[in-house]
Amino acid sequence: MNHHRMACIILAAGSGTRMKSSHPKVLTIFDEKPILENIVEKAESMQPSQVIVVVSPQYKDLVQSHFSNRIHGAVQKEPLGTGDAFLAGLEKLDDSIQSVMVLCGDTPLIQSSTLQAFSQLFFSTPTKASLITALVADPKRYGRILRNPLGSFVKIIEWKDASEEEREISEINSGMYLFSREAIETHLHSINNNNASGEFYITDILESIQQDQDHVSTYTIQGEEEIIGINTKADLSQALQISNNRRLQSLMVDHGVYIVDPSSTRIGPHVSIGRDTDIKPNTWIEGDVEIGEDCSIGPFVCIRGDQGKILIESHCTIGPFTSLRKNCIIRHGAKAGTFVEMKNCELKPNSKANHLSYLGDAVIGERSNIGAGTITCNYDGFEKHRTIIEDDVFIGSDTIIVAPVTIEKGSFTGAGSVITQNVPPNALAIERNEQKNKENWAEKYRESKSKRRQS
Ligand code: UD1
Ligand code: CA
Repeated sequence: MNHHRMACIILAAGSGTRMKSSHPKVLTIFDEKPILENIVEKAESMQPSQVIVVVSPQYKDLVQSHFSNRIHGAVQKEPLGTGDAFLAGLEKLDDSIQSVMVLCGDTPLIQSSTLQAFSQLFFSTPTKASLITALVADPKRYGRILRNPLGSFVKIIEWKDASEEEREISEINSGMYLFSREAIETHLHSINNNNASGEFYITDILESIQQDQDHVSTYTIQGEEEIIGINTKADLSQALQISNNRRLQSLMVDHGVYIVDPSSTRIGPHVSIGRDTDIKPNTWIEGDVEIGEDCSIGPFVCIRGDQGKILIESHCTIGPFTSLRKNCIIRHGAKAGTFVEMKNCELKPNSKANHLSYLGDAVIGERSNIGAGTITCNYDGFEKHRTIIEDDVFIGSDTIIVAPVTIEKGSFTGAGSVITQNVPPNALAIERNEQKNKENWAEKYRESKSKRRQS
């Protein structure tokens, strides 16, 4: 293949107004990275010698600083159409480039494997230009592909310019193309704004190349899924669902993970999960997360490794209603149960925090048991402090642990205690008033109340 002399031009200078956002559309987060970065990565997977991104003037600096030297930024002064954006991108083309792939900055669902197959077809035939087309049930307002009776490509007709009959065509233009540099240079003049919308159409160049007897080839995919452009927040959520679902399917089919209810499960792109782990409904796992084999996660669990890795070793139980928030390590066979929140916390093998706890900035040794209602008070309003609970410790229910504090091996805390001092090994730390039982108190109390009511 001829890849080393190829450039990718990504058109990303659309106005993005339909997002109804005060942030630039191309830097809107999709699947944990900016929409545009998803497509830059796809471009990079083709190993081009140049990636050129065409942006509008107001976002040039933002985009350039986000990608630094991964991309060459080009500016389209006004949004005059895809043809005009293409011209702006071509201005940055290195002299050595022999072919150009064009992608859209807002279609993050295109798969690298599709682009690979597309370029393989292009570089293995003597065609001068090629495009990805899609056969769809609802062609919406995409450009339609016109073919001659023999089935060869003739041209693309935009929805606005199409007749009723042409609008019936269900093969559409994806907006992704490959050109030889030679064909671009010969036919660039054909791009004009003589059409219904008064925009410059990149698609004009394909018609011109075809008319010149230079064969234009097509690579056709099924369905709209890979070419959906993100224009509104509704598109953003629909696209995320598609991307998420691809990942869930792969986890199940390729990795032996059982996802009970994919429709209520979100698993981010940087999550790995071992075989025979079950993910139960309404579970949200994002960021840098590694989960081992044979775990049970969920239902209603939130695991967020976006600010620090979460590692869950094998045979662990997480859930229901558990929140793991940055820098947690749950070791082999450990358990974090109902309404337990953890942050900066290591739970060593076979330890359990089964109910209603906050464990922050803490290390919990092996085989320790954290009673219901245990809270580590890690924050004094100014600084965070650490709690160390060693092996085989039994923390009684409703223990308040005021850090910094160490509870040594094999010790117990009494239920309801506020622990402010270190506890030596094998001790019982108990901090609460002695219980007094006042005999017959209740009876006298009721009597006095009822007398008052009568009087
Ligand atoms: C274009 C195609 C259409 C195709 C569709 C696929 C043309 C004339 N039509 O439609 O056949 O079915 O894509 O989605 O090309 N952009 C700029 N500057 C501009 C205008 C657009 O950079 O002045 C960028 C956008 O940011 C976007 C891409 O080009 O990433 C496509 O633009 P969009 O407006 O979505 O496409 P259409 O022109 O409607
Ligand atoms: Ca108390």
